[in-house]
Amino acid sequence: MNPPVLRDVFPSAAAGLKSAVTLNNGGKMPWLGLGVFQVDGDAATATAVRHALRLGYRSIDTAALYRNESGVGEAVRTSGLPRSELFVTTKVWNDDIRANRIEAALVQSLKLLGLDYVDLYLLHWPIRGQTENAWRVMEQLYRDGRVRAIGVSNYLVPQLEELLVHAEVVPAVNQIEFHPWLQSKPLHAFCNAHQIRLEAWAPLMQGGDLLRDPVLVSLAAQHRRTVAQIILRWNVQLGVVTIPKSVHPERIAENADIFGFALDDAAMAAIAALDRGQRKGPDPLNFNF
Ligand SMILES: NC(=O)c1ccc[n+]([C@@H]2O[C@H](COP(=O)([O-])OP(=O)(O)OC[C@H]3O[C@@H](n4cnc5c(N)ncnc54)[C@H](OP(=O)(O)O)[C@@H]3O)[C@@H](O)[C@H]2O)c1
Repeated sequence: MNPPVLRDVFPSAAAGLKSAVTLNNGGKMPWLGLGVFQVDGDAATATAVRHALRLGYRSIDTAALYRNESGVGEAVRTSGLPRSELFVTTKVWNDDIRANRIEAALVQSLKLLGLDYVDLYLLHWPIRGQTENAWRVMEQLYRDGRVRAIGVSNYLVPQLEELLVHAEVVPAVNQIEFHPWLQSKPLHAFCNAHQIRLEAWAPLMQGGDLLRDPVLVSLAAQHRRTVAQIILRWNVQLGVVTIPKSVHPERIAENADIFGFALDDAAMAAIAALDRGQRKGPDPLNFNF
């Protein structure tokens, strides 16, 4: 297995973007990808994804909920890149989990993407009372080869414990809200102990006040980097896969340019001390959608 964290420094963003972590099933997942939540429509999504792929991004994170899988698929299929070099994640939405329509939802996602398989398929949110059934379907899709890895999203420790009681396949990934103000250290430790790779959604806390945190601003000045770059580098040095979203070419480039420098132990400790348990998004133990 790869080391659980990324400490390497690469000569270029494109080289770093190809660096990948080995998941618990032996598959490889790039450390950094492009998220496309709240990208408005397929055309804008295709434009952003095309730009990212040209820069060297190889991983794209979408979901049925985002209603832009067609745009992702179009950009991926017309990129000229071999499918085997790309890592596409999508997620099954809660209504389909509740209605036991996971397989049909995957068929629909693959149709919209225009792909034969996805690299990672995630249960988008933990639906109370559905975990055991839903995971059994996910395991079957994995065994059938229609998804190369399966995982969960927004699962906290009790929900993972419940899933693991019956699981034959351990989730490869848990994608959660994760940034310096929400570090969920016990959950991260639990995932590490079970070889479930943590993946950060809203790594930039969706672009708000976090980017003005004085400690991060000072680290950015010291390293001659932006706050976004400090946060994203901190993610991978902690062993957390990260998928910042942007539709702006200069930010897509900025967010990928994190492989040519490293944070030392003091910088890592300074960021570790920023945790406030503060969420931007819903609480996975109490949501109403
Ligand atoms: N599993 C889940 O439940 C879940 C939930 C939410 C998100 N996600 C996934 O995680 C991805 C990332 O999370 P997110 O989109 O919620 O939030 P995010 O990546 O933390 O932040 C995106 C926001 O930050 C801005 N931004 C991007 N790069 C920037 C930079 N370098 N400097 C300043 N601002 C910057 C973007 O604006 P512009 O686009 O205008 O540049 C956008 O408004 C999503 O796209 C999605 O794929 C998953």
